[in-house]
Amino acid sequence: MTGIRVRLLEDHDDRSGFDSGNIDLDRFFRKYAGQNQFKHHVGVTYVATEGSSILGFVTVAPGSIEIEHLPAKARRKLPTYPLPVLRIARMASSRAARGIGIGELLLEFSLQLAREMSARFGCVGVVVDAKEEAVSFYEGCGFEPFDVLEGGSEARPMPQPLFLPLGSIPLREGGTDP
Ligand SMILES: CC(C)(COP(=O)(O)OP(=O)(O)OC[C@H]1O[C@@H](n2cnc3c(N)ncnc32)[C@H](O)[C@@H]1OP(=O)(O)O)[C@@H](O)C(=O)NCCC(=O)NCCS
Repeated sequence: MTGIRVRLLEDHDDRSGFDSGNIDLDRFFRKYAGQNQFKHHVGVTYVATEGSSILGFVTVAPGSIEIEHLPAKARRKLPTYPLPVLRIARMASSRAARGIGIGELLLEFSLQLAREMSARFGCVGVVVDAKEEAVSFYEGCGFEPFDVLEGGSEARPMPQPLFLPLGSIPLREGGTDP
């Protein structure tokens, strides 16, 4: 992974050629990630880059979750009002860079953001609404599925929400700043 780094999306980044193989994610990244970040402030995107190439992205936003939606063992000792979480809204690696650790790098970066959020504003863990094909990727990283939402269909299945408690995120050496 020498030469690969994760940084904030910049307005001038050329996103037009990004191809993850998922049209919805590519459309989001090319058309909406910038305005969501720079104009509407509803989420922040980080990119994994090598030189001027974008190898992957993750979009995160603060969120909250009702305690009853958490997996049973994560509920223990928590108060019953809505709990702060970091939400991974979207994540993808480019098809050309699949399987070389970009997904893991972006996920690890996001987990450290959750650590930073917990230190500064409060955060009990990370939530992701995963596409069916990515569920095992998140499970492999320690996430646990909870409450399957209703309303999906065979043609357009609902995403599977998964949760990783803050206590399962190791504090990276050197403090809380990613
Ligand atoms: C899911 C995704 C982000 C993974 O990215 P990646 O760059 O290929 O992942 P990595 O190379 O970091 O792989 C890390 C580990 O996860 C495994 N993995 C990767 N994709 C996986 C998947 N879809 N299911 C299960 N395991 C997966 C890898 O084999 C690897 O395991 P290893 O460490 O034992 O070798 C990528 O496949 C992707 O962009 N998919 C299309 C979009 C998508 O589904 N995004 C998620 C939306 S919620």
